[in-house]
Amino acid sequence: MPVAGEDTGGTGPVVWQTGSVPAADPTTAAPTSVDRIVVHGGDPLSGRVRVGGAKNSALKLMAATLLAPGVHELVRVPRITDVELMAEVLRSMGARVRWRDPDASLDDDRVLEIDMPATITPVAPYELVERFRASIVVLGPLLARCGEARVALPGGDDFGPRPIDMHLRGLAALGAEFDTSHGYVEGRAPNLVGSRVLLEFPSVGATENIVMAAVRAKGTTTIDNAAREPEIADLCGMLNKMGARIEGAGSSTIVIEGVDELGPVRHRVVPDRIEAATYLAAVGMAGGEIVVADARLDHMDLLCQKLGEMGMRISADPDGLWAMANRRLRAVDCSTLPYPGIATDYKPLIVTLLSTAEGVGIVTENLFAGRFRYVDELRRMGADIRTEAHHAVVRGVERLSGAPVRAHDIRAGAALVVAGLGAEGETVVADAHHVDRGYEDLVGKLAALGARVERA
Ligand code: UD1
Repeated sequence: MPVAGEDTGGTGPVVWQTGSVPAADPTTAAPTSVDRIVVHGGDPLSGRVRVGGAKNSALKLMAATLLAPGVHELVRVPRITDVELMAEVLRSMGARVRWRDPDASLDDDRVLEIDMPATITPVAPYELVERFRASIVVLGPLLARCGEARVALPGGDDFGPRPIDMHLRGLAALGAEFDTSHGYVEGRAPNLVGSRVLLEFPSVGATENIVMAAVRAKGTTTIDNAAREPEIADLCGMLNKMGARIEGAGSSTIVIEGVDELGPVRHRVVPDRIEAATYLAAVGMAGGEIVVADARLDHMDLLCQKLGEMGMRISADPDGLWAMANRRLRAVDCSTLPYPGIATDYKPLIVTLLSTAEGVGIVTENLFAGRFRYVDELRRMGADIRTEAHHAVVRGVERLSGAPVRAHDIRAGAALVVAGLGAEGETVVADAHHVDRGYEDLVGKLAALGARVERA
């Protein structure tokens, strides 16, 4: 069987890099003429594809390295734009960051090596932060390490306002003081002290920021209504290896006993459940039979249950997940919820699958306002979808028809590529740089499964 994703190709010259973004950096370059993905639908998929490390974990693990001087090694970090941007954020603070080729004697994955100096500059500049929202997670570790931080207010995906009030309130409960002006949030926390933090919503980013501050606070911090995502458990697992004392990660109550010192570690990033879901949706759309290596059923069981109700067959495989689709899927209803509910990041994939399923499905978004922009693009492909406030009513049509469409964010872009796999004729997804923010070689991996897809 063909193996997609295991040959990561050259990782470039191994050189230490410091300083600001080089002019030729692909992550900062303007979109070019290769900024399109062209898909020819109709071919079933077969073979094995391997998922990389989770973007939403890797970015936070990178931020966590700010907490301890020394050489950290992060294994299975995806080589995607957001990671390159976070590397630039760390470099701008004084860290040396480099990719290291796979070391066959240890494992088969490349390593992101981060050498965190004894003194760092606790400033995250606007030029970098405005390009990806996750950069706000440097706030907690900077306050913990330096007692102060100046972080530009984040930008990010194009789906409505994304406030950071819960991050700031949680950190304030530990003694931090904030001043927000001129597009920056400035924090001071000379003496962080453990406290009880009750989140009004289980925010992923707020939980992560508070945990990363609390690990160095004096005394005990309890976070109630904490986010339970596998990526939070991954972060806490790494922090505990660094010397932190955290219990309850993965549950709604996280208890953190502050410590005086943390040290550098080697840590392997948890597999990316959203990337895995993308390949499951791809086979659901195109038909066929695939193995998604390294995918973890226990991190995505509700989604797999939903896809099962739609008529896909999915089961655990010694390697990861086995999935098959051999007929038209059936419509189901679904609502996005914090983990372990159906992730909002899966939603564009689910709406895409429903667009050709038999019957009517209602999809309800409970996390982010305005996260339905890709629906207009699916309509251009012939989908019958009506949106009303935070609901989408999807009436399945027999077949989508290929069309020129535009990616507005990472997951919507991937979903449009998936839509193209089940569509008649050619689909051209413009603004594919959004896809590169979260997927390492989506096109190559799908092509290795037999899809007719290329970068144009
Ligand atoms: C993370 C993920 C994102 C995913 C989301 C929800 C990363 C890099 N991104 O985003 O892919 O879709 O979790 O699973 O990990 N909110 C506030 N105030 C705050 C913080 C959040 O009102 O201070 C609101 C948000 O607007 C949103 C909800 O809470 O409506 C959930 O957001 P949150 O869990 O914080 O998402 P992110 O961490 O930004």
